[in-house]
Amino acid sequence: MARILHGLILAAGFVGGAAAQNQTGGQGLHALMVAAGKLYFGTAMETNNFNDMAYQAISSNRNEFGMFTPENSQKWEVTEPTQNQFSFTQADQVAMKVKSNGQLLRCHTLTWHSQLPGFVTTTTWTRATLTAALTAHITNVMKHYAGFCYAWDVVNEALNEDGSFRQSVFFKTLGPSYIPLSFSLAAAADPTAKLYYNDFNLETTAAKADGALKIVQLIQSPPQNITGARIDGVGFQAHLNVGQTPTRAQLAATLRRFTALGVEVAYTELDIAHTKLPASEADNQKQAADYVATVGSCLDVKECVGITVWQFSDKYSWVPGTFPGKGEACLYTEGFEKKVAYEAVVGLLRSTAGGSAGVGAGTGTGRGNATATGGLRGTGTASTSGVTEAAVPGAFSGAQRVRGAWMGLGVLPLAVGWVM
Ligand SMILES: *[C@@H]1O[C@H](CO)[C@@H](O)[C@H](O)[C@H]1NC(C)=O
Ligand SMILES: *[C@@H]1O[C@H](CO)[C@@H](O)[C@H](O)[C@H]1NC(C)=O
Ligand SMILES: *[C@@H]1O[C@H](CO)[C@@H](O)[C@H](O)[C@H]1NC(C)=O
Repeated sequence: MARILHGLILAAGFVGGAAAQNQTGGQGLHALMVAAGKLYFGTAMETNNFNDMAYQAISSNRNEFGMFTPENSQKWEVTEPTQNQFSFTQADQVAMKVKSNGQLLRCHTLTWHSQLPGFVTTTTWTRATLTAALTAHITNVMKHYAGFCYAWDVVNEALNEDGSFRQSVFFKTLGPSYIPLSFSLAAAADPTAKLYYNDFNLETTAAKADGALKIVQLIQSPPQNITGARIDGVGFQAHLNVGQTPTRAQLAATLRRFTALGVEVAYTELDIAHTKLPASEADNQKQAADYVATVGSCLDVKECVGITVWQFSDKYSWVPGTFPGKGEACLYTEGFEKKVAYEAVVGLLRSTAGGSAGVGAGTGTGRGNATATGGLRGTGTASTSGVTEAAVPGAFSGAQRVRGAWMGLGVLPLAVGWVM
């Protein structure tokens, strides 16, 4: 059941993307991201955004966003405020809204030192009692959402800036083994979700990236008292600053350090804050270039599956509240106007999506061959149809099919698609 739902949701997202390409000026971030061969362009969203109609008009547009991360409601303090008493009311509202709109969910987060309920921070734990508490938390939360989450951020922010382990309650009681332990519990609770390690400043701080690489290896080769651990991905939060963002090539090189270990990567909380407010026109151009570098680096790395922004409008950005003096970090203004950065990202995606030929083949059904290896693409007058499993890498299992047909028009292909 879970798998089938997954497939249908993805298929719907694909069709949304295809239809968008058919409308002049109607291409959004997600539609173009899929056309460029990626799985999604997403955003954080929370229940406090539900009554904002201008916000909802944009977030419910599948051409714009295909993946959502609950910004706060799946964190430990919300889902298990008192030991062994679980509450999913808030996160379920986000999950149901997203699912009913044919969009996907990235789930966030399980083992993290911050936004913890009082009982985790005040109890005097032993190795046995904390292992039991982690087991109960991860198992209950993940089983509740089993089949709904494309990915889970299993462990979040375990590192200091120098790459050493943060002295969290988990580390102090269990040592580094709390990390593979969490991934082992997660693998058992939901075999279908991609399991991610997620952290910030991996893009900018080599020593911290070194630490994260060691974490991947620790999960891949865990100590003997941990069995069944699995890691599928590393999330780069990408809370960046205008004018201090690495180049596209530097960012891609950092991503490749991780994909070399056999994991996929994604930008999971992207925003690029101005450090001087209000931003000038020149600052906004710089911000656009930094967004293009970041999105471009994902396009450059095959195993980079997608990008999530940490809210798309400055109206709901966490930045000014957490870092006074910084802000205007999102792709849309507080008034939901598209910024230069939005237009620049769309321009980049449009040129990528239209830039190379699709590989059309296979008109069959069942497990006929995936087509268009780079996603939904086409050039010239080529027309083709087929099973497009490859348009959503790794996301489809055999029984789900999307049938697509597309034809080229100039550089940018037009496309129509439908679910079989
Ligand atoms: C897409 O464009 C084609 C060619 O212009 C048109 O025949 C078709 O009806 C359009 N489909 C949608 C969904 O707009
Ligand atoms: C696994 O064994 C190591 C070494 O004895 C220990 O330090 C660690 O806390 C153990 N981890 C768990 C989760 O029991
Ligand atoms: C599909 O692709 C696979 C692997 O590339 C190949 O072995 C197989 O013959 C192809 N099947 C069809 C029906 O073209």
